[in-house]
Amino acid sequence: MNENTAPTDARFVLVTTLDALRPGAPVRVIVEGHTLVLARHGDAVYAFQATCPHEKADLSQARIERGCVVCPRHLAAFALIDGKASAGWDNVEPLKLYPVRIVNGDVTVDAAAVSRQPPGGRRQVWDFSS
Ligand code: FES
Repeated sequence: MNENTAPTDARFVLVTTLDALRPGAPVRVIVEGHTLVLARHGDAVYAFQATCPHEKADLSQARIERGCVVCPRHLAAFALIDGKASAGWDNVEPLKLYPVRIVNGDVTVDAAAVSRQPPGGRRQVWDFSS
């Protein structure tokens, strides 16, 4: 992400390290109580909602190829640059993507962006009452 385009309220939090991410092997992470998926593609890392905008397939099982997240269930492809679905999926919402920064090998995600525009799906709520 270009520093000059970061929103003024951006708040990047550490989620993992670059060494822990293998290309082609997306992983789940929790940011602000929401599950996201991180995927390494070339030298870049992308963060996006964990469930497919079509019928909520688990995108931690997706393939990352040719700049797209390919859903494992019906094979819709979502562009990593803007989240738009591939041709033929015009009625499907774009995939929500979140800003990522890599600083000295640490992978950080903008938690403020996640709070502003939470991913679909279930919000994880911690219960400390017992
Ligand atoms: S659930 Fe992902 S394309 Fe249908």
